[in-house]
Amino acid sequence: MPGVNENTPIAPSFPPLRIGDPAPEFLARSTEGMVRLSDYRGGWLLFFSHPGDFTPVCTSEFVALARAQDQFSAMGCSLLGHSVDSLFSHLAWIRAIRDHFDVTVTFPIVEDPSLDIARAYGMLPADAHDAASVRAVYVIDTVGVVRAMISYPAAVGRSVDEMLRLVAALQGTADGDSLSPEGWEPGQPMLTPPVLTREAVLGSGLAEGSGWFCRPVGGDSA
Ligand code: BEZ
Repeated sequence: MPGVNENTPIAPSFPPLRIGDPAPEFLARSTEGMVRLSDYRGGWLLFFSHPGDFTPVCTSEFVALARAQDQFSAMGCSLLGHSVDSLFSHLAWIRAIRDHFDVTVTFPIVEDPSLDIARAYGMLPADAHDAASVRAVYVIDTVGVVRAMISYPAAVGRSVDEMLRLVAALQGTADGDSLSPEGWEPGQPMLTPPVLTREAVLGSGLAEGSGWFCRPVGGDSA
């Protein structure tokens, strides 16, 4: 191809995926059989990518995610892993994880040898010269819409506690009646949405004091 050489990035040609977009559909082989993204409709989904199988940080993340799977299930959230490596590599990796860490990875890990999924989701760094994707997380809601995205470089592992917190915060705010403050944890109060009109701000309905624009609501002790 004219103008293409080993220094040409294999960057995605898709428009960037954004919060609020429909999650791109795919059908792929996985460690649990064929997976079609739309089959997850009706529940929440944590879809996460890995730069590669048999790598140390990815292994630590997989072990932690497998150990936390029951906590995600309790929130109605399925787990779905991805790396561009082959299905056979994925299978060998989860066997090695079982043998070395005594942890069985039962969530599916899709293969993506064509990079079609990685490109559609924007998992490849803009300057990518090989197929290793970044550590991306997509939280997809019950109707298939991307509600949050996390993107970390290969050298830094993600926090499974933060993924759990994020899913809980998205679910707790999904009705639009409350907002999740900094560091919110399940059971703690949330915040009421901002007041939007002069009438509401100056009216008598709001309590006196400096907190009228940042008001807690709910929580286990409420
Ligand atoms: C890791 O998961 O440890 C890793 C993956 C890709 C590049 C470097 C490290």
